[in-house]
Amino acid sequence: MPDNTSKNKGIGVSPDWYATGIERTWLPYAQMKTAAPPLAVVATHGCRIMLADGRELIDGIASWWTACHGYNHPHIRAAVERQLAEMPHVMFGGMVHEPALTLARRLTELLAPSGLDRVFFSDSGSVAVEVALKMAVQYWINKGVRGRNKIVAFRGGYHGDTSGAMAVSDPEGSMHAAFRGLLPEQILVDLPVDAESAAALDTVLAQWADKIAAIIVEPLIQGAGGMRFHDPGVLHTLRALADRYELLLIFDEIFTGFLRTGAMFAFQDAGVAPDIVTLSKALTGGTLPLAATVASRKVFEAFWSDDPTKALMHGPTFMANPLACAAANASLDLFEREPRRDQVAKISAALRHGLEPCRTLPGIKDVRVKGAIGVVELDHIENLNGLRQRFIAEGVFVRPFGTVIYLAPAFTIAEDELGSLIDAIRRVLAGRP
Ligand SMILES: Cc1ncc(COP(=O)(O)O)c(C=O)c1O
Repeated sequence: MPDNTSKNKGIGVSPDWYATGIERTWLPYAQMKTAAPPLAVVATHGCRIMLADGRELIDGIASWWTACHGYNHPHIRAAVERQLAEMPHVMFGGMVHEPALTLARRLTELLAPSGLDRVFFSDSGSVAVEVALKMAVQYWINKGVRGRNKIVAFRGGYHGDTSGAMAVSDPEGSMHAAFRGLLPEQILVDLPVDAESAAALDTVLAQWADKIAAIIVEPLIQGAGGMRFHDPGVLHTLRALADRYELLLIFDEIFTGFLRTGAMFAFQDAGVAPDIVTLSKALTGGTLPLAATVASRKVFEAFWSDDPTKALMHGPTFMANPLACAAANASLDLFEREPRRDQVAKISAALRHGLEPCRTLPGIKDVRVKGAIGVVELDHIENLNGLRQRFIAEGVFVRPFGTVIYLAPAFTIAEDELGSLIDAIRRVLAGRP
């Protein structure tokens, strides 16, 4: 019987719930036999994670980029508590409620003037992507065009772990090469970052256009695929090609949305509007699971019909959960009334200034910053688990992956906390063998 409890690996205090439950739990993205025992967390506050053994870590990645206002923000907590007392959940089939409709209105106002004005709620980023793909394929069916069911996606991209989302993610970067036989084959190409790659994409589209429903891309930053940045010009190229070949354009803003890149949505920074956008992660300020797929009027109109077969046949049980929608509305209040844009600009400047010196260290391939994201890319990372443990020993939670060490903290992070995160990265890198 494998034994992976903290007691056996010597972390120290192991609460009863940890010792009795860890053997019954399967963790994400982890080889359970060799992974370091997970940290026992008992509380979160601001940018801090409190552990059962009394240690406190400064969080550098805001719980997979969700907790943009810091943990346990009193305004979000109060909104969720109020909603909990009234109606924690009710199904969304045949019924609606104020938190969801208010959120739909507010989201479309934020997305204006893009024309993205119909919100379909779901409960995770991957499902929001599934919905976007289904919308795109059915758009063509509803318009009476047959055979347009392929999606063009990009190397280095990541859109989630469900089958449809995996199929449009880079197989290597997204860890799903093993599932090739299970997944629908999509068209995976290079991002059109220069004239040559744009011409190559044009050739692929010219050849396959009548089989393609849509192009999907993470605008400005490919996140989980390696924190790779591209210029707004890439999105202009994609929009122009999508228009030329009459394809729908899907922007997956699940990571980039809600000021993470500096603009409320990355596409607004680039000045290019998609036909469908997916949102999640920071949507509820990192408190509850919620996602949205927002379609343009053009897309929605293809579903508007007397024919019941033209309806979008999708409906997650917990879609538009009132608690999650209340949290999202409260999060939007904070974006409206708190100086989040200034905070992101300050974080950006501090990351630039603080991480830049890493460039001269041996084994560093690149240092880059966009919005509240700072990345140090290495030639390779030999021992990922070991590196992660070194950061924990430094009192910070930074979770390197692939060949990158990165920070994507809460926008509310204090100057000295951000300084500690940057110092920890510099110290760990300087001390590498
Ligand atoms: C761009 C992007 N799309 C989709 C997803 C999947 O979201 P979820 O993990 O909520 O399913 C992620 C998650 O990291 C993401 O970064």
